[in-house]
Amino acid sequence: MDQDSQIRRIQARLKTPIIPIGLMGSGKSHVGERLAQSLGLSFMDVDRVIEDEEGCSIAALFETKGEPYFRARERETISRLISGDVCVLSPGGGAIMAADTADLIFGNTLSLWLNADMDVLVDRVSRNSNRPLLKNGDPRDILTGLLERRGPIYAKAHITVDSNSPDVAVTVAKALNAIDDYLKEDNL
Ligand code: S3P
Repeated sequence: MDQDSQIRRIQARLKTPIIPIGLMGSGKSHVGERLAQSLGLSFMDVDRVIEDEEGCSIAALFETKGEPYFRARERETISRLISGDVCVLSPGGGAIMAADTADLIFGNTLSLWLNADMDVLVDRVSRNSNRPLLKNGDPRDILTGLLERRGPIYAKAHITVDSNSPDVAVTVAKALNAIDDYLKEDNL
């Protein structure tokens, strides 16, 4: 498949932001950023936008203002950013657990579930100790519990892509194929 013509076809048909969703370690930021580059779109990471606006890390925000405050900021930030230009926007893995945020994502964007195996997720999150939800306990147990609760919601995504590969280009190519197929069917 000629990737240039695939990209031009997606660019011509895409009318909404693309939102990668999935557990911590699934690749939302890395894949999202490379996908945006391929499509000539801007990329925004919701956690980074909140950190810049709040002037502190997500971990510090959880400690000082609590998770409910963070979830409200998350919803407000996503709502604001999806009403701008078409872009790729990566929220944190828990954004879809707030019903109103899930409605925003599933109703107004092209959502892309990056689905990776538990071993892969555990390995990836072990390289970064800044995730507040993984601080108190065994990351595998915590991620397994989160997957049980969040899996059915992630599965509502418009598109699901296997994100196990350590090579981000492989996952981006899979995402482009899946997006192209989805848009060809005039789904959006
Ligand atoms: C969270 C995931 C994190 C961050 C926060 C909460 C979650 O983002 O938003 O720590 O609830 O899964 P990543 O999924 O990018 O790690």
